[in-house]
Amino acid sequence: MAIVGERTVEWVGIQKRLVGSYLIVILITVAILEIFLMVSVKYYYYHNIERILMNQAELSASFFHQYFADEDLPKQSERLLNGFAQNSAAQVQIIGSTGQLLQDSTGTLAGKSLIEYQDVQSAINGKVGIWRGNELSTHENILAVSYPLQAKDITVGAVRFVTSLTEMTETINRIFTLFITVGLFVVAIVTVLGIFLSRTITTSITELKLAADQMAEGDFSVTAKKRYRDELGSLADTLNTMAATIRQNNQLKNDFISSVSHELRTPLTSIKGWAVTLRTSDEDSGSLLKDGLEIIETETDRLTELVDELLDFSKLDNGRMILNWNSLHMTEFIQHIGKQLAPRAARQSISLYVHVNDKFPVIQADENRLKQVLINLLDNSLKFTDPHGSIQLAADSDHEYVIISVEDTGQGIPEGDLAHVLQKFYKGSSHAAGSGLGLSISEQIIRLHGGRLLIESQEGVGTKVKIFLPK
Ligand SMILES: Nc1ncnc2c1ncn2[C@@H]1O[C@H](COP(=O)(O)OP(=O)(O)OP(=O)(O)O)[C@@H](O)[C@H]1O
Ligand SMILES: [Mg+2]
Repeated sequence: MAIVGERTVEWVGIQKRLVGSYLIVILITVAILEIFLMVSVKYYYYHNIERILMNQAELSASFFHQYFADEDLPKQSERLLNGFAQNSAAQVQIIGSTGQLLQDSTGTLAGKSLIEYQDVQSAINGKVGIWRGNELSTHENILAVSYPLQAKDITVGAVRFVTSLTEMTETINRIFTLFITVGLFVVAIVTVLGIFLSRTITTSITELKLAADQMAEGDFSVTAKKRYRDELGSLADTLNTMAATIRQNNQLKNDFISSVSHELRTPLTSIKGWAVTLRTSDEDSGSLLKDGLEIIETETDRLTELVDELLDFSKLDNGRMILNWNSLHMTEFIQHIGKQLAPRAARQSISLYVHVNDKFPVIQADENRLKQVLINLLDNSLKFTDPHGSIQLAADSDHEYVIISVEDTGQGIPEGDLAHVLQKFYKGSSHAAGSGLGLSISEQIIRLHGGRLLIESQEGVGTKVKIFLPK
């Protein structure tokens, strides 16, 4: 239970991180976009209103300049105001040269001094003035544009257009609210999508982790599910391949143990049998004793051979086997091996032929190891060839390699087994004595020499093993 709890927390963690990263990116993007839009909208609205007021003020001022420049402003102000205000929705004010209000289209504030307003100050000084702020008496947010009224280059007063910004501010606020709502909606959609999408990743990871956990507990029969053809998919493949390899190795280990036990048991049974016979036999027969001891000796040799093979194998497997390089006369070497195995071949009624010419180069090799390889190969041929068959041991050379071959007319290796006979402990369907290590060790020894070992075989016809040794 505790483990399950821990696991959940872990994966929720990954999902949180994924969704968190999406969210941060989206939040930043949405925020930047919205700020930009809001600033633009605000600028657009203000700028628009300002332009309209400015146009009207400019038009009014030029109208005054053309038609009323000769007249007294305070006297004409009412007529002027009527003319100006006709075409504008804004509040229009006519201001005298000292800043006092002469006329107001709302009619309420006439006579008051407007000199505190910045725009009015610049207008009576001959420059256009724009001001935005809270109106002093009503505290309403307003925009005011003041334009100087000029008669013969002298500023005689100003015309002022004022508009309330309350309505526009409300419109802008409504637009902002809309933007923010849409933004939040986008963020919400992205969060939901993010959670959904990140699940596709975390679910795969969780499944892989579960499979890996089961493998860690020793159950290699599980398969990791492959959901997509991505990195996680290939991780699932890797886990499955790993499990298959471990399963195969376990199988090999079991086969090995049973085959080695079997190999050990046979000579031990025979040794034990003879020991008991010799101990319990009453008759003091010299020949029985001799036979018994002889068999015990051969069986002990077999045991020693097996143990040596296992030792070699473990040395090769750990990379601890070191070759003893020395000069080797091929011709003598091959002939010597032929002579060594001739008696066994004769016992089994198999003809053993040795082909080797005298002008063989001297090569560098580990003589004992090479001998071990050839004896392994000849032992196989003798094991798997029926009486009256034949075995050819031959050595040849080309410009690059020395080629030694062992060919027999034996039972051959089935096609399905051929690819595996070089594997350690692989015996195929053979029930003959042996641990299945011979070919594997031989191949590795040849490889340590920098050479290659190739096997050709046809079931029912025979087998040919070729060794290529670099000169
Ligand atoms: N010349 C051959 N003819 C037919 N089958 C062969 C021949 N050589 C090898 N094989 C097959 O390949 C298998 C593996 O051979 P290998 O020499 O590795 O093991 P082994 O002979 O069974 O045991 P060991 O050599 O360790 O005593 C053999 O069990 C046999 O099935
Ligand atoms: Mg063998």
